[in-house]
Amino acid sequence: MDDVKAPRDADSAGSLRNPAGVSESEIRAADQPERNPGRGKLIFYSDGARCRNCHDLNDAAKSTGPTLTEIRKKYTKPEEMLQHILKPSLKVDEKFAMWVVITDKGQVHSGLILSQTDDEVVLKTAERKTVRVAKTEIDEMKKSPLSLMPEGILSDLTAQEAADLLAWFGAAGSG
Ligand code: HEC
Repeated sequence: MDDVKAPRDADSAGSLRNPAGVSESEIRAADQPERNPGRGKLIFYSDGARCRNCHDLNDAAKSTGPTLTEIRKKYTKPEEMLQHILKPSLKVDEKFAMWVVITDKGQVHSGLILSQTDDEVVLKTAERKTVRVAKTEIDEMKKSPLSLMPEGILSDLTAQEAADLLAWFGAAGSG
């Protein structure tokens, strides 16, 4: 294993390919010659990778983001999918846009809009909490340019683990 990494700002080919601070292992994930979807599935359901916190297989009600089935339909190439996992904020579907709500007491809430009436806004946070804010208490409400999905989510994984995860993500129909 060559897991000893040079500092992020080192003047290496890695950092040139990688101006946004994406780790080497994330980038190399797409280049692994062997990918094991079975192991990828275990990683997806592990506590470490956190994906299943926000992406259920099929159930949109349990998913903060799109379901795994939706994602698989949308991205058939692992490289394309990797891009979206590494940089979730590059493109965010309107449906999954994150909103920031600031109250007149200076509290800041952020999350997806679950519902909205004349009286209140209901947000779902990244921690899957539901937050209700009365419209009369809202000072400011704006759409965030950032995705709710955290950046660098694969950085805790080795290149091989990230590659396995991608393989399973891409393996449509294998549950
Ligand atoms: C805190 C919640 C959260 C976690 C954890 C999370 N995601 Fe996401 N993910 C989202 C949300 C919300 C979106 C939709 C917004 C967007 O496209 O950035 C999304 C979008 C995506 C997309 C792009 C779908 C599209 O339509 O462009 C992929 C691929 C994806 N996630 C994969 C993963 C993988 C793999 C993991 C685990 C390593 C993971 N996500 C962990 C919330 C999360």
